[in-house]
Amino acid sequence: MAATCPDRAPFQAASTPVATEAPQALPKIEAVDTYGEYQRREGLPVITGFGVEDLRTVELGTWARRGGKGVFINLDGTGGTNDAYVAEIPPGGQLAPQHQLFEELIYVVDGNGATAVWTDPQHKVTFEWKTGSLFAIPLNAWHEHFNGSGQKPARFFSVTTAPTVMSLFHNLKFVFDTPFSFDDRFSGHDSYFNGEGTLHWDRIMETNFVPNVHDVELYTWKERGAGGKQVRFELAHSTMCAHVSEFPVGTYKKGHRHGPGAHVIVLGGTGYSLLWPEGSSRQRFDWKQGSVVVPPSGWFHQHFNSGATPARYLALRWGSRRYRMSEAFSQGEGKTDVDVKQGGAQIEYEDEDRAIHELFESELRRHDAPCNMRGMVPWCTGPEKG
Ligand SMILES: [Fe+2]
Repeated sequence: MAATCPDRAPFQAASTPVATEAPQALPKIEAVDTYGEYQRREGLPVITGFGVEDLRTVELGTWARRGGKGVFINLDGTGGTNDAYVAEIPPGGQLAPQHQLFEELIYVVDGNGATAVWTDPQHKVTFEWKTGSLFAIPLNAWHEHFNGSGQKPARFFSVTTAPTVMSLFHNLKFVFDTPFSFDDRFSGHDSYFNGEGTLHWDRIMETNFVPNVHDVELYTWKERGAGGKQVRFELAHSTMCAHVSEFPVGTYKKGHRHGPGAHVIVLGGTGYSLLWPEGSSRQRFDWKQGSVVVPPSGWFHQHFNSGATPARYLALRWGSRRYRMSEAFSQGEGKTDVDVKQGGAQIEYEDEDRAIHELFESELRRHDAPCNMRGMVPWCTGPEKG
């Protein structure tokens, strides 16, 4: 005898189903957009598209609630999983303190100042930052940012998990007004943001504060090709993480693809990125110091240094190795430097479209820079090494 659900009639195979029209008069279900509601509440302008030309000069609106200026940045390549904003603290001022149930990674674009972080108001942990500093706000910890200059504004760029968290709970009061203390993420020790950390295998540094990503030490990453170097950061026990990469003059990295939401911020150098969904035409994004681009989920992309100096960038993204998210967020993590022919997500130089290298050489000629891909790309016409 078949088991039946106590609340429902037993399922019976239908004979000939009779199609009926749904009554038109019924009300339509109303979509709730909690993240959109949050953005409207903050009253800031919103930038969309592939990328941002220069974080240092991007126009900001008044951010009345926090007492500064700001702009939301919702780039296509996030797939709505994470977001970004730029904030500016007025000279001699501070932003209103807050705590929140979404993660936040912060890169200081320009200026100097300090941030106080606490869960116990009797014990605030304060640390100083300057242009190039990188840190994370521990989940749900109170924090307050101060500008250290009385003359110049201080500007920072944040990547947060707000869209996903707000969609999951769809309750802004819960997101901004929950007292729970994540003591597994934030100890409250005075040394929490002192910049010390532990270096792990595969170039991964666990720390809570990086004084300056512009000059932080990098390690060889031979699998991505062309003399590239990298270091990864896991900050404040976040599920998001960061990495810094640099590649030499006259080189480019191998094409690869991964999941959504990797905000690539150019720290130095000039060049361009090509981005394309498999089998479709390539789109080009030109960059310089201060530019941000987010490759869309699953699109191949490739970064080219076409200028006369090394190119360095910082990526703020999903993909912590310690706190793993589902494949939907971290697509290809761990496979981004493995050949697609071996089931990975990277295109080896010898398999790439020849037009990619031809474009690179013509861009180098415009900047009077040599191509240094001889020995890596079979059809490179750059000078012999040695
Ligand atoms: Fe990438």
